Amino acid sequence: MGKIILTGDRPTGRLHLGHYVGSLRRRVELQNAGDFDRMFVFMADVQALTDNADNPEKIRQNIIEVALDYLSVGLDPNICTIFIQSHIPELTELTTYFMNLITVSRLQRNPTVKSEIQMRNFEANIPAGFLCYPVSQAADITMFKSTTIPVGEDQEPMIEVTREIVRRFNSTYGDVFVEPEIMLPENKAALRLPGTDGKAKMSKSLGNCIYLSDSAEDVWQKVRGMYTDPTHLRVDDPGHLEGNAVFTYLDAFSTDADFAEFLPEYANLDELKEHYTRGGLGDMKCKKLLNQIINKMLEPVRQRRAEWQKDIPAIFEILKKGTESAREVAANTMSEVHRAMQIDYFNDADLIKQQAEKFKF
Ligand code: TRP
Repeated sequence: MGKIILTGDRPTGRLHLGHYVGSLRRRVELQNAGDFDRMFVFMADVQALTDNADNPEKIRQNIIEVALDYLSVGLDPNICTIFIQSHIPELTELTTYFMNLITVSRLQRNPTVKSEIQMRNFEANIPAGFLCYPVSQAADITMFKSTTIPVGEDQEPMIEVTREIVRRFNSTYGDVFVEPEIMLPENKAALRLPGTDGKAKMSKSLGNCIYLSDSAEDVWQKVRGMYTDPTHLRVDDPGHLEGNAVFTYLDAFSTDADFAEFLPEYANLDELKEHYTRGGLGDMKCKKLLNQIINKMLEPVRQRRAEWQKDIPAIFEILKKGTESAREVAANTMSEVHRAMQIDYFNDADLIKQQAEKFKF
């Protein structure tokens, strides 16, 4: 069995640096390394609707935003299949069968879903679809026999649920599915990039994101206002790295080559950190460096975006083609599922003969 890579994003907003270091950067590297049988990237609009049922316009508008983000970071539709979840009805069907293989209490124990419920004030009124979205995610993953899921740490519980469902399905109906492996970012700072305000996570609702589509000016405004160390009042004061968003971002993004290019008085980040904690290094210098690093990274992304924006209809065509191609795979998997679950009545000549025998005379 070769490697099959799959990931998705909810199209609820433009993608930001948290998405980039958590997963997008890895996807592009994997794509370019070429070491896989197939690679799928998709927009999880069905999942997005589980907590946006009353706001379909938001999802509709963000399909193209996310597609532009994908294409501008360098995902290549000639190499990876880009598709839209809602247009693969087989996913909904498989989700329904998977629902029978997991309990409500197991779903209620999912730490990511729990914190999302809290954030959305859903405690008293959880939409059933929202509680069950990890089951739908298990269908997304297994439908394509995916082996490798490059995602952030917050997706770990979903992969665990998927693995449990796969084991349950295979032991009940026979081997059809593969247990996927999560592929976490190697860089520890990238596991959960904080917002520019230093809060736990970059999130659109907290207004603490740097978007892949931000202009150089936007990025500088945001970096300049970033949370650092509230006890670091004068340049001479010793600074602290713990919880300091600027240094967490430098951990996630900077390379030694960046130091050589932008701040050659320091060989690497360790030397910069050492000076900062000793005292005598101002926040502004660190922020300017970070700004240069982020903008250097985003410049090619902006250029590709500007090109793709000139032909939006072509992007819809790419999504349509990708969806058609993904659907062929889904149809094959569902034939196997129908056979394994013994619901392939019309294709089973033995069943028809046997039933005819049973009801003779
Ligand atoms: N839950 C993921 C997110 O919020 C999106 C997603 C849906 C996904 N289905 C997936 C990710 C399958 C990886 C694999 O970002």
